[in-house]
Amino acid sequence: MKDHLVIFDTTLRDGEQSPGASMTKEEKLRVARQLERMQVDVIEAGFAAASPGDFDAIKSIATIVRASTVCSLARSNENDIRRAGEAIKPAARGRIHTFIATSPIHMEKKLRMTPDQVVESAVRAVHWAREYTDDVEFSAEDAVRSDVDFLCRVFEAVIKAGARTINVPDTVGYSIPSVWGDLMRTLIERVPGAGQVVWSTHCHNDLGMAVANSLSAVLAGARQVECTINGLGERAGNASLEEVVMAVRTRADLFPVETRIDTTQIVPASKLVSQITGYPVQPNKAVVGANAFAHESGIHQDGVLKHRETYEIMRAEDVGWAQNKLVLGKHSGRNAFKSRLSALGIVLDGEEALNVAFARFKELADKKHEIFDADLQALVSDEEFTQDGEYYKLVYSRVCSETGETPASSLTLTVDGVETKAAGVGSGPVDATFKAIESVAGSGAQLLLYSVNAITTGTDAQGEVTVRLGKDGRIVNGNGADTDIVIASAKAYLNALNKLQAPDRVDPQGDV
Ligand code: KIV
Ligand code: ZN
Repeated sequence: MKDHLVIFDTTLRDGEQSPGASMTKEEKLRVARQLERMQVDVIEAGFAAASPGDFDAIKSIATIVRASTVCSLARSNENDIRRAGEAIKPAARGRIHTFIATSPIHMEKKLRMTPDQVVESAVRAVHWAREYTDDVEFSAEDAVRSDVDFLCRVFEAVIKAGARTINVPDTVGYSIPSVWGDLMRTLIERVPGAGQVVWSTHCHNDLGMAVANSLSAVLAGARQVECTINGLGERAGNASLEEVVMAVRTRADLFPVETRIDTTQIVPASKLVSQITGYPVQPNKAVVGANAFAHESGIHQDGVLKHRETYEIMRAEDVGWAQNKLVLGKHSGRNAFKSRLSALGIVLDGEEALNVAFARFKELADKKHEIFDADLQALVSDEEFTQDGEYYKLVYSRVCSETGETPASSLTLTVDGVETKAAGVGSGPVDATFKAIESVAGSGAQLLLYSVNAITTGTDAQGEVTVRLGKDGRIVNGNGADTDIVIASAKAYLNALNKLQAPDRVDPQGDV
């Protein structure tokens, strides 16, 4: 019998801390449903005290998700913990994840607290959290640079106070596999009460070793891995869920653990998160990259045709690559459309939303004969980006692009519900369109990234555009999809401007 390895997904919390990856409540709900479908054990849905929007999103996720534990992060102060406790109340199973930094540099320079104060604060936090749930996790932030004797002292105290999971983070991605495994083994051997808790690892990828370090911790006794879809997360990101899960499964001969993840949901989850956050997946990324199962050299192709296992250690269909099949066409009816959306885990809010999405589907099917799952995902996302009530919305776009002439754009937008005309010229049709929008919005935001991806193959594919804007230290991503990439670009720019309008959040890595 193998031990169960708890998969704790923090895409919606640490993943969302990637620059510009902030998600709307609806987007978070879609990701949470997909994580539940994939049978993730714990979904860290956010940081309740960060903003009323975060609180609301966690509460909504706790209300709809039944098959996974829903967790909120909280610093070790009373307000954070009470906010987290309230947010997870509707959950079938709710967890509070509280943390405080334990390294000398963080205690002295960031927290300005003595080690005794840190221990006291951690214990108090766990007691408050236990008022809401038995399922309390404690993390020693920057454990990687903490003194081992002090870590043992803090962990012993929080276990006595009632923490059930002890998480050991490599917050700054500084460790290497042998050292990280040794630390986990030492803690499990030395901390009194270690046998009563689940030991967890949370690794960042600054030196490209987050997955390797996490797996080394598992070999040393960790039974929870904190990870994210596509390895999204602060700076260089977190350990990637798909790599951890597939390593444990593919090398079952080495790992004494198994997960309950439905691996066929991995690629759909990867595509969804990439589409929503605007973070593309590099083609050679393990498991979910477009080339992960492509064989280019003749020798490899020949080998795979003769016997697949000559060059493949995993089957593409086991991680969900077969899922992007042709699904619908222009003759498909409303029921087929609805049931395909529900197979993809997309639940629209009421009949009216379904009618609007179906009308958009018919428009798309007129332009594009074959509609794939990825097209439907983009269509629904795009529908969400352009909901009524958005401050800026595209009504009409016309672009002139002619050899020897300066490209020019004329647009009609609604600005807070009022129809407004805009015009601009630029070095190309997209540049002209952005200038036209800026002539009305006057945001002064800096364009940090512009990227276009074809969602499917063929010249009739929808282009999915990501625009990243920065202003006053805030960074947001906007997305838009259309078979016309200039329109997709305009939608993405407006989506980013709408996000800049939303209120700012508290930084979860801030002081206690
Ligand atoms: O990286 C980190 O230390 C964290 C903690 C809050 C667990 O994200
Ligand atoms: Zn982290």
